[in-house]
Amino acid sequence: MSVHKTVKRVTTHVLSEMKLKGEKIAMLTGYDYSMARILDSAEIDIILVGDSASNVMAGYETTLPITLDNMIYHAASVVRAVRRALVVVDLPFGTYQGNSMEALASAIRIMKETGAHAVKLEGGSEILESVERILSAGIPVMGHLGLTPQSIHKFGTYVVRARDEEEAARLRSDAGKLEKAGIFALVLEKIPARLAGEVTAGLNIPVIGIGAGQAVDGQVLVLHDMLGITQEFSPRFLRRYHNLYAEISGAVSSYIRDVRSGDFPSEKEQY
Ligand code: KIV
Repeated sequence: MSVHKTVKRVTTHVLSEMKLKGEKIAMLTGYDYSMARILDSAEIDIILVGDSASNVMAGYETTLPITLDNMIYHAASVVRAVRRALVVVDLPFGTYQGNSMEALASAIRIMKETGAHAVKLEGGSEILESVERILSAGIPVMGHLGLTPQSIHKFGTYVVRARDEEEAARLRSDAGKLEKAGIFALVLEKIPARLAGEVTAGLNIPVIGIGAGQAVDGQVLVLHDMLGITQEFSPRFLRRYHNLYAEISGAVSSYIRDVRSGDFPSEKEQY
């Protein structure tokens, strides 16, 4: 029997068992109670309260402006909805890069004030001390390498990362260091599929890809992108499962029409 079918609650241990048995892990982002209820009932394995909330919930151009308080608000809403999934929360920009004590304080706030199960940090050797300090407090950490949107102003573009051998070698080395430090899983974003496969084969922890091809242990997408709520963002790796923008817009237009014509509410819809 598959691991994901038998578990009542997804834990970091369940995820490593899934990797061992070659079962793919399904992860999506989630930012609010109502959506998280749907994702959890559909038996998603991991809900990532991503700092992509900065884009899709708050309308900022980058992930940089979202605050720790904002993330705590989103994460607590998600946790209230979840019975089965593992909930991972992004540490937002500026809350862990300064020093490891600040990183630990940020991670502790997330764990205490939201009830989430783990945190995610972007970066490799430059944040290793923060990762180690958070882990030493018993807080599970998910890593994130490749395209790291919090560093957008350093790179200036969202193009595929680690195409050249120097950057690929750094990524391999960072992945190894993060695993050795004790992270429970690693996100690889927008890197060549071959490199992602190589890194995945070399690690014992699960690797979750976004724009990183098939040879990883699981996939993650931003919920609003895969549901077709966002329209302007169309990278090659994105599969849209719905066109919710059109559906919602159609429903709202029908409502406006019915209100204006006096068709809504009908006699049956009043007291
Ligand atoms: O914030 C986010 O949505 C993410 C995913 C793209 C992995 O970090």
